[in-house]
Amino acid sequence: MDTPQTHRPIRSFVLRQGYMSKGQQRAYDTLMPVLGVGYQPQVADLDAVFGRAAPKVVEIGFGMGGATADIAQARPDTDYLGVEVHGPGVGSLLKLVEERQLGNVRVIQHDAVEVFTHMLAPASLDGVHVFFPDPWHKKRHNKRRLIQPPFVALLASRIKPGGYLHLATDWEDYAIQMLEVLSQEATLENTADGYAPRPDYRPLTKFEQRGLRLGHGVWDLVFRKRG
Ligand SMILES: C[S@@+](CC[C@H](N)C(=O)[O-])C[C@H]1O[C@@H](n2cnc3c(N)ncnc32)[C@H](O)[C@@H]1O
Repeated sequence: MDTPQTHRPIRSFVLRQGYMSKGQQRAYDTLMPVLGVGYQPQVADLDAVFGRAAPKVVEIGFGMGGATADIAQARPDTDYLGVEVHGPGVGSLLKLVEERQLGNVRVIQHDAVEVFTHMLAPASLDGVHVFFPDPWHKKRHNKRRLIQPPFVALLASRIKPGGYLHLATDWEDYAIQMLEVLSQEATLENTADGYAPRPDYRPLTKFEQRGLRLGHGVWDLVFRKRG
């Protein structure tokens, strides 16, 4: 007999409460009502959300939002929608947005799988970023990895012809899986011969700089949606 548990989806995250600094909490409390987009299972009008018609890029799992804020600051003509489940990370990004007075960032605190399924219209995005998604490196946890064929097909369906999907990881076997899965998605084409050079807009994280000094690898993948 089926039990409700049988139907529980496999999620790519475990929700931890985590500590929010006073500054993050204040930014969360004051800015979430203004810059937060509530999850609802219906398509959102992103031009209305940002108050303008401009290219739209969605970042999945922005963590503390350092890269998001740097990229949004460097590219004021593009709108960035960050999707993250972790509250302190949301507070951290909103604090950066406030400090730098960024007008082109909005946030959804919800599971990206549901956001892409229900809130984002087909062929509506200019780009999607997924930087250092949880590697779930134990074999028995691999099924929790975000980058798998059905989710990549969903991501690709939301990207406009000519738009891009940019992934980065520092786990070699996840990089191999990413390259395999993206290469098999017929609506995407690789912009590079295998892994891509890191695009200028993606800042090096401190963690990544240290890893590179220690000889650890980082792999970027940039695929384009076929026209
Ligand atoms: C390893 S961290 C990387 C964070 C950041 N991109 C960086 O480079 O530092 C992965 C992040 O993805 C978030 N995440 C995982 N699955 C998610 C999902 N389905 N929807 C939204 N966020 C997710 C986690 O909460 C976590 O903050």
